[in-house]
Amino acid sequence: MVKAIRFHKTGGPEVLQLEDIAVGEPGAGEARVRHTAIGVNFIDTYHRSGLYPMPMPSGIGSEGAGVVEAVGAGVDFLKVGDRVAYTGNPIGSYAEARLFPADRLVKIPEGVSDQQAASMMLKGMTTQYLIHRTYAAKAGETVLWHAAAGGVGLIACQWLKALGVTVIGTVGSDEKAKLAKPAATI
Ligand SMILES: NC(=O)c1ccc[n+]([C@@H]2O[C@H](COP(=O)([O-])OP(=O)(O)OC[C@H]3O[C@@H](n4cnc5c(N)ncnc54)[C@H](OP(=O)(O)O)[C@@H]3O)[C@@H](O)[C@H]2O)c1
Repeated sequence: MVKAIRFHKTGGPEVLQLEDIAVGEPGAGEARVRHTAIGVNFIDTYHRSGLYPMPMPSGIGSEGAGVVEAVGAGVDFLKVGDRVAYTGNPIGSYAEARLFPADRLVKIPEGVSDQQAASMMLKGMTTQYLIHRTYAAKAGETVLWHAAAGGVGLIACQWLKALGVTVIGTVGSDEKAKLAKPAATI
């Protein structure tokens, strides 16, 4: 049994409950990950509120990192003890441990902490598609980024600055301005 945050009905933060759940052994193509860090994202509130409908009851949380505890049949590219990170479905990273499709686990390279990996998977890939694929930002250009001190914003502004882009950011408080200022004009 592990502790996990789950919800049985949609609503405000009060619907989230700490529960004991059975994780079980990984099936074919799965790995069991013992979390050492997880990421929190604005999308978690969409799942919790029902804006993005989920089957009930549900876990919550879209990114995490940890250590592989066990692997199921057919998983030969991961071994017990590997440090891994992930994002995406199935939702449910707010838990001490969980099962996850092994082919969507990324081995964490040396020099990247579990906390860094857990917090950059969804936010980092979101930033990657926005600034490279939705629009390929280039050195010398200027980008306006709203919520520059948010999870996505902090990664995006630093990445854009590294590309040579001038970043203008908006934030909701002086405290957030301090966080965002190293990479953006606020
Ligand atoms: N996390 C991801 O990977 C991801 C992926 C796809 C899409 N998105 C979208 O990108 C946006 C930012 O996500 P995030 O994870 O970076 O969020 P976050 O870290 O929670 O930051 C959200 C920020 O948005 C600003 N904001 C503006 N209007 C708001 C409102 N009505 N309620 C609450 N906050 C408001 C606030 O900053 P100020 O006070 O500075 O304005 C707040 O700190 C969200 O719309 C999210 O759905 C995120």
